[in-house]
Amino acid sequence: MANSIVVGAQWGDEGKGKIVDYLTEGSDVVVRAAGGNNAGHTVISGGRKYILHLIPSGILWPGKLCVIGNGVVMDPLGLIEEIAKLRGQGVTIDPSNLLISETAHLVMPYHRALDRAREARRGDKKIGTTGRGIGPAYADKVERGGLRAVLLKQPEVLARELRDRIGMHNETLAAAGADLVPVDETIAQILDAAAILAPHVTNTAVRLHQEIRSGRNLLFEGAQGTYLDIDHGTYPFVTSSNTTAGGACTGSGVPPRLIDRVVAVAKAYTTRVGSGPFVTENEAISDMLHNMGREFGATTGRARRCGWLDMVLIRYAVMINGADELAITNLDGLDGLDRIQICTAYTLRGETLEYPPATAADMEECVPVYEEHEGWRQDLSAVTNYNDLPSKAKAYLDRVAELAGARISLVGIGPAREQTLVV
Ligand code: IMP
Repeated sequence: MANSIVVGAQWGDEGKGKIVDYLTEGSDVVVRAAGGNNAGHTVISGGRKYILHLIPSGILWPGKLCVIGNGVVMDPLGLIEEIAKLRGQGVTIDPSNLLISETAHLVMPYHRALDRAREARRGDKKIGTTGRGIGPAYADKVERGGLRAVLLKQPEVLARELRDRIGMHNETLAAAGADLVPVDETIAQILDAAAILAPHVTNTAVRLHQEIRSGRNLLFEGAQGTYLDIDHGTYPFVTSSNTTAGGACTGSGVPPRLIDRVVAVAKAYTTRVGSGPFVTENEAISDMLHNMGREFGATTGRARRCGWLDMVLIRYAVMINGADELAITNLDGLDGLDRIQICTAYTLRGETLEYPPATAADMEECVPVYEEHEGWRQDLSAVTNYNDLPSKAKAYLDRVAELAGARISLVGIGPAREQTLVV
């Protein structure tokens, strides 16, 4: 029996969806505890491609319960669209396999409008958000002006509260010279969505504890990554939630003492979308991966920035997430290279750093210290057993584990569910 957390060790897009999907087999309940529909998980199963934003990827498995926890900010309009798309692909979704925490906060159309207006105001200092209203929704939550999912079951209260909030946020939008959110049309739209989603809304903390007491295994599906965490990431170029392991507990009501295992997921190289420091960024690697048709975002379609594997980031991520296991994905992305670099430390104004500095400005100034490895120059995509990997690929992975201070338990060599090697 084990309750496990899967977290990203980089800037998101580590391939967590695939690892979660793989681990779901031994789990009964899959929980999302932070973030919103800024996340995009791509899962390829049975030759079909599914893109998930808010719904845990456990939904693709029959008999698994999926929970959107209280730490999530949930966009009702986005969620009904996602449900409709998945149903169109033959996935069964009903209140027996998808539950929404009644204390999860709602992302409303005015949050999306505010997100765009704030980004426009930031000019060349923009964060490069997904434009999904995530930051403003969390800001409302913390400011104590948010609306929670329980209101989806109380349409009259919801309509009244919405009218008040739209009025208030329209004042800000007007001051910013942005388009206003139409009041009656928005209320009608949200009430329609509320009628569809209300049967899914419940006290999920109580339900999760019941599941645990019945001996069921929970899997917490992390969204984004450690360096997008509001506290531990490259602030202010971060998202607005705690994407690290602790967020799984506060975002679900499952206490730390009931967590048994933390798996950190990292690509065999590094990527990020949006603005912010990226010490190992490398144009040649970006071009190579984009030319292979890789590294375009699932949510926004944006080309991701790419670079060498940065062990300063992974070392710190292993530490603050309490990860004793690493899953390395996309190893096959490096198949064509003669020489591969691993960043083992940074230098900043003459000082060697083993962990990332606190400010984005200092991180921009950091210079990577690289060690060079020989590439394996071989297509890995058809390997079915870890022991059959070329020795140079295994040497690369061994060195990564050593530098991270964690063992590698899974290795991804392609997008399909079957292309995951157990170490
Ligand atoms: P927001 O979460 O939309 O506010 O965006 C804040 C930052 O997080 C931006 O740099 C986004 O590109 C990044 N971000 C948000 N969600 C994801 C994700 O799922 N994968 C990768 N980056 C993300």
